[in-house]
Amino acid sequence: MPDDSTATAPAASEGASAAAATALERADALAACTEDPARLTRRFATPALAQAGDLVLGWMRDAGMTAGRDAIGNVAGRWEPPGLPAGAPTLMFGSHLDTVRDAGRYDGMLGVLVALAVVESMRERSGPPFALEVLGFADEEGVRYGTAYLGSSVVAGTFDRSALDRRDADGIAMADALAAFGGDPAALETARRDPADLLGYVEVHIEQGPVLEAEDLPVGVVTGIAGQTRAEVVFTGAAAHAGTVPMALRRDALAGAAEWIGAVEARGRAVDGLVATVGEATVAPGASNVIPGRVALSLDVRHFDDALRDASVADLRARAEEVAGARGLHAAWTEVQATGAVTCSPGLARALETAVEDTGVRVVRLPSGAGHDAAVMARICDVAMLFVRCAGGVSHNPAEAVTAADVAVAIDVVRGLVDTLARAR
Ligand code: GLV
Ligand code: MN
Ligand code: MN
Repeated sequence: MPDDSTATAPAASEGASAAAATALERADALAACTEDPARLTRRFATPALAQAGDLVLGWMRDAGMTAGRDAIGNVAGRWEPPGLPAGAPTLMFGSHLDTVRDAGRYDGMLGVLVALAVVESMRERSGPPFALEVLGFADEEGVRYGTAYLGSSVVAGTFDRSALDRRDADGIAMADALAAFGGDPAALETARRDPADLLGYVEVHIEQGPVLEAEDLPVGVVTGIAGQTRAEVVFTGAAAHAGTVPMALRRDALAGAAEWIGAVEARGRAVDGLVATVGEATVAPGASNVIPGRVALSLDVRHFDDALRDASVADLRARAEEVAGARGLHAAWTEVQATGAVTCSPGLARALETAVEDTGVRVVRLPSGAGHDAAVMARICDVAMLFVRCAGGVSHNPAEAVTAADVAVAIDVVRGLVDTLARAR
């Protein structure tokens, strides 16, 4: 829930304050769209995601936008100011509507809701000489299929079709899940955007870190997004009786996996700026009196320097084979995804800084260790990102919180950005 206790007195307009209150009510409504009533979990192509998308589509249409779903299930709304000439470009806004397990209610959703608030505010004013679009991506977190940025990669035309064969934990192929969701695996190309039509992509997102809070600032301008590699590593040994097989004769997959996880952590600690995480482990057969025969692990490695990240990933792969070899195990490695680091576009970021300054807020620039759809959209257009302070820097956690006052500043900043870009054309 929003918590106003830490708010810096911001310079938000009255209209933005009312719009921020609406945005937070909408975030609460979206948080009720969950696969699990006890906690917010909303993965790709689930009924919960459909429900959330329907809410957003309704708000978009109420705002006078033309809105619908594309072939991968992203929701997209478009608003053209009256009299917009044919061939005028489009400024895109967006973020994602899927969540991690036991998520907060602002990671992703805030970017969609702030953009929607800005479009709603445009109705009372003369429009810019470009169209505005708001995208609610169907999957950024990659929880269901391990592949991050599904929605934006289809829009950017970087989607790897082999991912359609990936299966979720219940054995459902992505192509089948997408078809059941109302998407069209055979028509993904239709969701691809032509870079020639785009003025840029702007994403508002909670910071997910503590810098803005420490600086006592409501918003900050993002300089770039760390690159990330995701991989699956499977250690296979031999399941056997826990009471009868002597320690020296075991091929314990979990003991090998544990040794390797230690190496992952050590690598992350040893390389400045590197973060390396094993976030999932599936142990089979999974009984207290059975030596584990198979362990599947996820790996997530990030750095702002792609060469350093690649070198670390290669070392960790070699280390997995070394650990397996010494223990009579087999290590299988599958790279699920690699996305390079991205620098936000200087021109668009500068325009965003101007908009921040215009609200009377000191400009702070900060990098993003978290992944964002902007990292993929950067392949086809200029991108910029605005971070909004979140309480304690906490994210990927139900305790995620923002203040209405900070969200109001973000709305004013984005409105100011539209005005700045309109003046420049
Ligand atoms: C998304 O939140 C990510 O950074 O993995
Ligand atoms: Mn996230
Ligand atoms: Mn996010």
